[in-house]
Amino acid sequence: MSILIAPSVLAADFANLQQEVEMLNKSDADYIHVDIMDGVFVPNISFGLPVTEAIKRHALKPLDVHLMIINPDQYLEAFKNAGAAIISVHVEACNHLHRTLQAIKDLGCQAGVAINPHTSIETIRNVIQDIDMVCIMSVNPGFGGQKFIEHTYTKIKDLKKMISETGANTKIEIDGGVNANNAQMLKDAGADVLVAGNFVFSAADPKQVIADLKVLK
Ligand code: DX5
Ligand code: ZN
Repeated sequence: MSILIAPSVLAADFANLQQEVEMLNKSDADYIHVDIMDGVFVPNISFGLPVTEAIKRHALKPLDVHLMIINPDQYLEAFKNAGAAIISVHVEACNHLHRTLQAIKDLGCQAGVAINPHTSIETIRNVIQDIDMVCIMSVNPGFGGQKFIEHTYTKIKDLKKMISETGANTKIEIDGGVNANNAQMLKDAGADVLVAGNFVFSAADPKQVIADLKVLK
């Protein structure tokens, strides 16, 4: 199956967000990755609901909303209303992950779970069948443009094994430090979706970069 590409607008020019989203509409991107940071769960603040709504107003691709926030349950409905198609919460921010996943699905969204680099995939084994997409963080969340963490490959392979053993229908997304040097290896390890922020938006021709990722063998 061909890899799915989710450019992260965290690296876009916020003063020209409409043009950036229109560029993604014309590109081979499959999703638009929207990074929400609250300054508490992660040491950075990005943007919130009004900006997500503004992206949605122009977007022709589904919004993949990555909540890097504490107490995500409080905001699920608001992000659904702002236009989220996929909502990913962090396992580290959820005391009752099973309930949170059901709440996301009850809203009609796909349910994602993001796991930090230090977090074991065993934390999600018991709910893997309830997860539409696991987002493996390949950097510590909070900032774009960080260096890819190498142990991610092992984690992808282990998670892929867990998914096939349980017969779950769960996609694996990789988020952080994705570029031309690691994209093929990530796909080979079992990644289904690649998030790319700086690699896409700092390129002279972002549409071409997306097209090149999309045709990985
Ligand atoms: C990191 C965010 C990522 C980030 C990726 O906290 O979750 O989605 O935007 O950016 P790059 O691709 O630049 O590492
Ligand atoms: Zn993200």
